[in-house]
Amino acid sequence: MTRRAGKLFTTVAGVAVLAGCASTAPIAPSAAVAPLASVPVATESEDARIAALLSRMSLAHKVAQLIQPQINSVTPEEMRTYRYGSYLNGGNGGPYGNEFAPAADWLKLADEMWDASTAPLPNGEPAIPAIWGTDAVHGHTNVVGATIFPHNIGLGAAHDPDLVRRIGAATAAEIAATGIDWNFSPTVAVAQDDRWGRTYESYSEDPATVAELGAALVEGLQGKATPDGRIGAGHVIATAKHFFGDGGTTQGVDQGNVNGDLAQLEAIHARPYPAVIAAGVEAVMASFNSINGTKMHGNKPLLTGLLRGQMGFTGVVVGDWNGHAQIPGCTPSNCPQALLAGLDIYMVPDDAKALHASLLAQVKDGTIPMARLDEAVSRVLRMKLHAGLLDPGAKRPSQRSNGGDFALLGSPAHRALAREAVAKSQVLLKNNGVLPLKVGASILVAGRAADDIAQASGGWTLTWQGGDELTNARFPGATSIWAGLKAAAAEAGGTATLSADGSYATKPDVAIVVFGEKPYAEFAGDRKDLVFADREGLDLLRKYRAAGIRTVAVFLSGRPLWMNRELNAADAFVASWLPGGEGAGVADVLYGRRPATGRLSFSWPAHCTGQPVNGAEGALFPRGYGLSFGRVTPVARLDENCPILDARSAEWFDLGRLGNGITARGGATLLPNLRGSGGGITARGIDRNRQEDAREISFAPGSTLTLADEGRGSGGFRLVYQLATAPTAPVALATGGKVIDITAGLTTSAGKGWRELIVSQDCAPGTGRTLSITSAGPLTLSIARIARQDIPAGVDCSF
Ligand code: BGC
Ligand code: BGC
Repeated sequence: MTRRAGKLFTTVAGVAVLAGCASTAPIAPSAAVAPLASVPVATESEDARIAALLSRMSLAHKVAQLIQPQINSVTPEEMRTYRYGSYLNGGNGGPYGNEFAPAADWLKLADEMWDASTAPLPNGEPAIPAIWGTDAVHGHTNVVGATIFPHNIGLGAAHDPDLVRRIGAATAAEIAATGIDWNFSPTVAVAQDDRWGRTYESYSEDPATVAELGAALVEGLQGKATPDGRIGAGHVIATAKHFFGDGGTTQGVDQGNVNGDLAQLEAIHARPYPAVIAAGVEAVMASFNSINGTKMHGNKPLLTGLLRGQMGFTGVVVGDWNGHAQIPGCTPSNCPQALLAGLDIYMVPDDAKALHASLLAQVKDGTIPMARLDEAVSRVLRMKLHAGLLDPGAKRPSQRSNGGDFALLGSPAHRALAREAVAKSQVLLKNNGVLPLKVGASILVAGRAADDIAQASGGWTLTWQGGDELTNARFPGATSIWAGLKAAAAEAGGTATLSADGSYATKPDVAIVVFGEKPYAEFAGDRKDLVFADREGLDLLRKYRAAGIRTVAVFLSGRPLWMNRELNAADAFVASWLPGGEGAGVADVLYGRRPATGRLSFSWPAHCTGQPVNGAEGALFPRGYGLSFGRVTPVARLDENCPILDARSAEWFDLGRLGNGITARGGATLLPNLRGSGGGITARGIDRNRQEDAREISFAPGSTLTLADEGRGSGGFRLVYQLATAPTAPVALATGGKVIDITAGLTTSAGKGWRELIVSQDCAPGTGRTLSITSAGPLTLSIARIARQDIPAGVDCSF
């Protein structure tokens, strides 16, 4: 980054990435990769049928089978023209541009795509139905009203393969109800570093647990594998993802590099694959990460050699979201390398036509051998055949088993199953006797998260990142943790009071404080340490303790975090993970209506800096830990010292996320993660270097955006921003009681791309814990990063 002294506004070359903590993920001792899985061998008639279809397909239609656009970028008309083999809805995609579309719209689009892809072709060419893939990673949660199961980390704590199998079957039924054929689940990542933003998609840090539960989910989604490999009626195609190494990147950086001895890496991160292959999984998704410097989408020795050769996988390898474009020399629309390495389907959200053209040309000029094309197409056809879609008389989505049976979405039976899963996933880490709650107790349920279904559900819930603007009204039929506790209190003859801000009029017997991580998905959830700096829960716990009120901490999170302060402050502490839409399952355990059987599937960190040593060593609580009722275990006071909490520099907003403990307000309204609208401010995600890593902020005349720190960082501010057009009225920046007119600086930087604004301590002595921007006129300002740090002396001020 260049910064010229004497200038307040400078150009930025790239995003500054703070160095992360130094610890690397430990690698468990090597256990050889499980031997060749037993795979159902293709029957001759199946091979013959596939060969016959293939021989009648045009080259253009063969290529199209390997291309998977997203529904926001492909119409049924284009489907009829190109005959893509599959399509997907992304985490932010819904039918007809509406991610909150009713179930009937999902089914309608599925029927339209079916009709388009099966419209007869001339010259006796077979019309191959296209299939729809979705991310139903904790229930069919892209669709409003579907059952929301706990994320995988909670199912790991429940450690009940039969439960996972039943969840798979229920999820499949709900997917099929909306006409969708294919699920991009289970995630069989073996997360080794809790700083990774996808830790919650991982069942466990232990490969054997992941293998067992991943295989159970495959059986639930697809139905038990039959000798002829057929997927049962009402079931859907499953995908094991992401092959491989997703959970092993250095410092838990999403899509990053995995380094180490290959055999040892396989023993951890490839370990679940033989199990899911044996369970009959039809598809495997390639991973975004590199292994020892080679991107997996282009890694022939591993995609073909290991997965096919050694492990005997005969299904489809699907790419991840433009993952092929990360291979050196590739772009989203041009990448023969991926097919040559062993990828069968390109997930290419927005560039399907251009990719089709380039692949077609590359087959014609011999860059891609015909045999490789035919092999990939044959695999896609075999998967469709197993799903029953190539049978004579195969039906439109709405006419199939479960098709259009919308009563399955969030059905009482599925919700009861989710509630069972929630109860089984709660892990009791501390209990000095306050749990189970006594019959007749008066309870105060405190914290902003208590009545927030979106927060309890985490990422991959209605939207890609989850949370944000999703109020409880978006979750018809679901139960918040508060609603579950309220009903349980009434049934136990007691009383319950909700208090989002923690205040109370009458002193309760027990205060239950619900707090935790705000939702995130993928890289947006990556962190540099295990600090949970948001003080809301901690302050409430301490306040109640001081008032002589017994407390239960219910911690919502996608991973273990350093909780020593909260553990000290609370009488009981429950790791609740991301339980989802059936919050009554939490109450079932707190009231002792169900036993406390959840056990940690990840070791819990003793220190705030980085990753604990996997297993027992160096952890505060080892994997497998969890209290049952009846055992009151005194917990010694834990060390509350954490140097990072006092660190002198802090990211307030970076890579699409507000920093720990930072809140954004527009007028009087909270803008979660700097998204949403309120007080004349509208903030939406835009792409700078990565998907939605920046915000476009629109100010109505006279409105103010305020970022408030609750304790991190000191020194000046650095703000990376972009402005298309100059302001038409004064813009002021306020910090530490000082108001700076930045109109002139913004005017000169308009239209010049991303720039950096530096407010040093010299320029604005007393820079403070809040930063506000007020615009007198309408203004649209994009912000990519705001950080607080010491800025060296000598930077002049020109405002
Ligand atoms: C994720 C995958 C997901 C795909 C489609 C990617 O960004 O890594 O897990 O299946 O998007 O939404
Ligand atoms: C999509 C996700 C996808 C992600 C990848 C989002 O816009 O909705 O499904 O995983 O992009 O960057």
